[in-house]
Amino acid sequence: MLIQLGKIVVTGVAFLIALGCISTDALAGTIVGSKHDLAYLEDLHGIGNSYNDEVCIYCHTPHNADQSQGPLWNRPAPTVSYTLYASETLIELPGQPGPASLLCLSCHDGTIAVDTIIEMPNVNVIIDKNHPKMRYDPTNPGIMDCGTCHYPGAPGGNHVRSYFGTNLSNQHPVGIVYNTSTPRLRQPPAETVKLVNGKVECTSCHNVHDPEIEPFLITDNAGSALCFACHAK
Ligand code: HEC
Ligand code: HEC
Ligand code: HEC
Ligand code: HEC
Ligand code: HEC
Repeated sequence: MLIQLGKIVVTGVAFLIALGCISTDALAGTIVGSKHDLAYLEDLHGIGNSYNDEVCIYCHTPHNADQSQGPLWNRPAPTVSYTLYASETLIELPGQPGPASLLCLSCHDGTIAVDTIIEMPNVNVIIDKNHPKMRYDPTNPGIMDCGTCHYPGAPGGNHVRSYFGTNLSNQHPVGIVYNTSTPRLRQPPAETVKLVNGKVECTSCHNVHDPEIEPFLITDNAGSALCFACHAK
């Protein structure tokens, strides 16, 4: 097995050793070693310590952050316009994703590479021209996207469900006002979920730092409990 990512080529054996290096058991419930630990993901792929194993740096920086986007935010904002969810039975029509959702989409819409950040740490900065983006584009098989290896049936596993693209029409609506006068929705929603400026956003259902309830859910969805937190059905 030969794994090539960016300029680094490693053998399958070295790759599996890299896999064994990380144990997530000791830090269950933390972002460390989770799919939101990009330093871990880079180790896993044999890329090395591009940002010196700094877990937080891919999203936050202590200095010179873009505070207009989010807390000490360290990523460029998406500049695209999204295709929105639409349906005849909706009470409210969704708008473009709100600021909280754009934080997520800065990786999950596949337009911005996961390791593109605003403020580089002072140590060990490697700027690789082959920044991997979270997208699956069979028409561009040459480019170093996550989907180049993580497509259905691929040896790296199929991850394309996490690569949303800019068409959100088949995703639960975000940027949508939580109507406070309809019996279709619980008034107010259960405390287990949160609204952002009165709207449903990605962070209404997800907790970006905590992988404990997969996949990064804010509350357990057994018996559709997450859905019932808002929907009176
Ligand atoms: C994959 C991106 C990502 C990474 C990595 C990340 N965060 Fe966050 N963080 C976010 C997002 C998104 C928010 C805003 C969450 C919200 O609005 O609910 C946030 C909010 C916060 C907040 C304020 C709200 C809160 O939950 O307390 C703190 C503090 C924070 N992060 C600390 C950290 C630290 C420390 C690290 C590294 C150990 C880290 N984050 C790593 C995405 C990330
Ligand atoms: C710095 C880039 C980055 C940001 C910002 C980010 N993610 Fe992710 N996210 C990832 C990566 C990388 C993965 C792993 C994808 C894969 O498996 O191919 C992932 C995976 C996930 C998963 C699937 C986890 C699993 O166990 O399969 C969820 C859910 C998720 N992210 C939600 C969010 C939400 C919600 C936000 C915003 C609050 C967010 N992400 C922000 C990079 C990011
Ligand atoms: C050059 C091919 C290649 C590229 C590009 C690549 N991966 Fe991987 N990835 C692999 C292989 C191979 C594995 C190991 C699969 C195994 O043995 O379980 C792996 C494992 C993973 C795993 C852990 C195993 C799993 O299925 O949960 C995650 C998460 C992951 N990759 C996410 C990503 C993300 C996110 C990107 C883009 C930033 C990416 N990969 C780019 C080849 C690749
Ligand atoms: C209304 C609640 C809700 C909202 C809003 C929401 N998600 Fe999710 N998300 C879920 C649930 C529940 C799952 C688990 C689905 C499953 O396992 O069947 C999930 C799964 C995921 C996954 C894993 C891939 C998959 O399809 O299973 C990713 C990535 C993800 N969400 C990212 C996001 C992002 C980014 C946003 C904002 C654009 C968002 N989510 C908004 C509830 C939500
Ligand atoms: C944080 C609150 C919240 C959570 C949690 C939530 N929803 Fe929603 N959902 C809404 C809102 C608000 C709307 C738009 C209002 C409407 O028209 O019903 C909506 C819309 C929908 C729609 C589209 C309705 C239509 O008329 O087209 C469906 C279907 C739906 N949600 C299913 C789910 C499922 C399944 C879950 C659990 C995975 C879930 N929701 C979790 C708030 C939520």
